[in-house]
Amino acid sequence: MRSITSYFRILIFAGISLYFLNWIGTSGDVSIFINQPWLWSIWGGLIFFHISCEICLAAISRVIYNSLNLEAKEKYDARIALKKANQFMWIKIYYKALLGSKNIEEESEIILDHNYDGIQELDNDLPPWWKYGFYFTIIFAVIYLVRFEIYNDYNQDEEYELAVAEAMIEIEEWKKTAKDLVDENSVILLTDASDFNAGKDIYLNNCAVCHKSDGGGGIGPNLTDNYWILGGGIKNIFKTIADGGRNGKGMIAWKNDLKPLEIAQVASYVMSFENTNPLESKKSEGEIWKDAESLKEKK
Ligand code: HEC
Repeated sequence: MRSITSYFRILIFAGISLYFLNWIGTSGDVSIFINQPWLWSIWGGLIFFHISCEICLAAISRVIYNSLNLEAKEKYDARIALKKANQFMWIKIYYKALLGSKNIEEESEIILDHNYDGIQELDNDLPPWWKYGFYFTIIFAVIYLVRFEIYNDYNQDEEYELAVAEAMIEIEEWKKTAKDLVDENSVILLTDASDFNAGKDIYLNNCAVCHKSDGGGGIGPNLTDNYWILGGGIKNIFKTIADGGRNGKGMIAWKNDLKPLEIAQVASYVMSFENTNPLESKKSEGEIWKDAESLKEKK
């Protein structure tokens, strides 16, 4: 114990055992350590056991060391010192091998026999790291050629289509969790029954007083025709509900009372009124709105 390597061993053991327990125990998205918190104590016990093993082993080697005679002790110490000194030797060896350069004492073997005002030239080999990199590019090129030029695996257009399709799936996934992040630019018509019913509830509780429960209009304008004062389409309707109508007309901004998702739901519900022609509806106001996607310019 108390040597740096023993601390490392304990850390590595702790990491591996945590990973391993988690890996066998977890089925599904949530880690078993969250579902079964008692497992932490098992993990702690394992680490404790490992630490005691380390302490015992260190104690045993200490006892054995002390039982050696002086000469054996010196021999042992010398071996340990040598091992320590050569600990990182392999890095140096690999580094040199990759450079492939000669020691300065051996330079006379590769010196070329010309001499320009005292400047001489060495005939070094190409450094191995460079050479192997070059061989790799050759192999890569052959595989690439066969795969894409001879067997026509896929071309850039297909790769692009694939990437777009994958991104679309990701966006769909994201939208499911990020419904509450919508604004007037990103809002889309919500068509799920649950969104429709939520929108209907919000409408009946907040909006029907002025727009009537069938959308035919009262204090507020008719929402069932194709005429819009502030712009039609889901985006404009979302914006009108969030930011309110023109000053002094009575349509307040709802963004402080309703969450973005709720505004999207009630806006989608309002969209469902289109062309329902309820009895006693209010006269059309505004202009026919054709472009369902664009946002109306601010006046
Ligand atoms: C106090 C009455 C009142 C309430 C409550 C009210 N509105 Fe309005 N709404 C109006 C008025 C008035 C206008 C017209 C605003 C204008 O002309 O600028 C309007 C405009 C609108 C428009 C735009 C119509 C167009 O032709 O461009 C929409 C969409 C709308 N309201 C939806 C809602 C929704 C959804 C709610 C509930 C969250 C709601 N309103 C609550 C009075 C109301």
